[in-house]
Amino acid sequence: MEAAGAGAATPSHASMVDTDDFDLSRLLNHRPRINVERQRSFDDRSLGDLYLSAMDGRGAGGYMDSYESMYSPGGGLRSLTGTPASSTRLSFEPHPLVGDAWDALRRSLVCFRGQPLGTIAAVDSSSGEVLNYDQVFVRDFVPSALAFLMNGEPEIVKNFLLKTLLLQGWEKRIDRFKLGEGAMPASFKVLKDPKRGVDTLAADFGESAIGRVAPADSGFWWIILLRAYTKSTGDHTLAETPECQKGIRLIMNQCLAEGFDTFPTLLCADGCCMIDRRMGVYGYPIEIQALFFMSLRCALLLLKPEAEGNKDIMERIVTRLHALSYHMRTYFWLDFQQLNVIYRFKTEEYSHTAVNKFNVIPESIPDWLFDFMPSRGGYFVGNVSPARMDFRWFALGNCVAILASLATPEQAGAIMDLIEERWEDLIGEMPLKICYPAIEGHEWQNVTGCDPKNTRWSYHNGGSWPVLIWLLTAACIKTGRLKIARRAIDLAEARLARDSWPEYYDGKLGRYVGKQARKHQTWSIAGYLVAKMMLEDPSHLGMISLEEDKAMNPVLKRSASWIV
Ligand code: GLC
Repeated sequence: MEAAGAGAATPSHASMVDTDDFDLSRLLNHRPRINVERQRSFDDRSLGDLYLSAMDGRGAGGYMDSYESMYSPGGGLRSLTGTPASSTRLSFEPHPLVGDAWDALRRSLVCFRGQPLGTIAAVDSSSGEVLNYDQVFVRDFVPSALAFLMNGEPEIVKNFLLKTLLLQGWEKRIDRFKLGEGAMPASFKVLKDPKRGVDTLAADFGESAIGRVAPADSGFWWIILLRAYTKSTGDHTLAETPECQKGIRLIMNQCLAEGFDTFPTLLCADGCCMIDRRMGVYGYPIEIQALFFMSLRCALLLLKPEAEGNKDIMERIVTRLHALSYHMRTYFWLDFQQLNVIYRFKTEEYSHTAVNKFNVIPESIPDWLFDFMPSRGGYFVGNVSPARMDFRWFALGNCVAILASLATPEQAGAIMDLIEERWEDLIGEMPLKICYPAIEGHEWQNVTGCDPKNTRWSYHNGGSWPVLIWLLTAACIKTGRLKIARRAIDLAEARLARDSWPEYYDGKLGRYVGKQARKHQTWSIAGYLVAKMMLEDPSHLGMISLEEDKAMNPVLKRSASWIV
């Protein structure tokens, strides 16, 4: 969440609570049971099979032949230099950047009462003085957490999961309005009081963020990370604690609450996710829908059926998953054929027989889309609501849709085809465009409210965000398209460290360091490390990927090969 400025998060008084009041630290004394068998699980084996079949004809040059020999019991072992040991298991020479990136990542670590708790958003020492952006953002911490898990350092992730759970328990208010119980913070800060010798936490649930938007994505990331921790360590005891089970239930209750909805997608405010400023991502943005879907699936894996209150919620999750996957795969999916169908839509249809269910008016299809849409490839559009289809392409939502198997295998392949076909537009000189294309002129005025930070091809408006490379790489591994990941990582490697790990790049091709980009942005560093570690040891993918659930197969499947 966009905070008040570097280092300026002044917590609201209500948020200042000494966490002694909620002491869960006893849980930290349980060392995780490292389950060496974990990578022999069905999930991972089927993942291996998936690779092998997906690699056919993709020119991966026998890379996957060595998949089994790359398998490393116990996961990434910590090396003495702080770089992942996995790099030594392969013929790869570890890239010189990797060691520097680990050093930088460790510099961003923040401790709470003597234990590392998270990574702050940026440690910028380029100007001589250290300019910290010292909030720990929940969404920013995810790639850091994955890097630590992959490197065999799960304790920090466990600490983070537990402390954020405590924050969820706080009373959250904006003026006289009380926020939902399940809400997780966008960010928190460790306040050090050297005189009293105590550390306290100050959290922001949206009440101090610019625009006062609650981060709908935080709770979803928290559940996804809890599953990643469980999967990677084999330690089920954390997720099974009554506290974690309750935390999951609260998040689920909040997003499964009944209202006036006619769609299974989750209605939300503009700027409630990674794009945390007004950018026309209100309604049913793909980023939130994909994360919602993934966290529903993760919650189902983590909730204990026998625990009180869980059965009912698990049934609601299953029902929602069915409806959500059908809705997304049917109405959000766009490829050449479907674009042609929309182009010829009749409007003003009433009753159950309507084809154009949302009354999308063909004249609202933007001109750029006709050229952008390749004959091979497709993607989930940005948003679908009554008479409004946001045709923009968003990176995070599409990659998460692949990882969560919200995309069918055909759709996942088509998303990768699109990236390949539209390389210049979506990757350019720095992976990866947060969205495509930029909005400008009158539309920019209307949609962003004349936001000077989000001018065309900058920041959230068509800027390029290096952090997204971990999601792209994960999606590439899942679909067996390693060449795409390698090409993208090569581009990033050529510039990232030289440019001091900026937060984002500007321009149509992403050639320029972003206008207001902070340097030494932690998630740019962590995103790179995670991408590298996953490429070197693809079994890491298991912690962030879910296999296709055949029971959720849609009646209607469209893909590049779909024929009307
Ligand atoms: C910006 C980004 C947001 C991120 C935050 C901290 O506000 O839009 O996604 O969490 O910075 O890096």
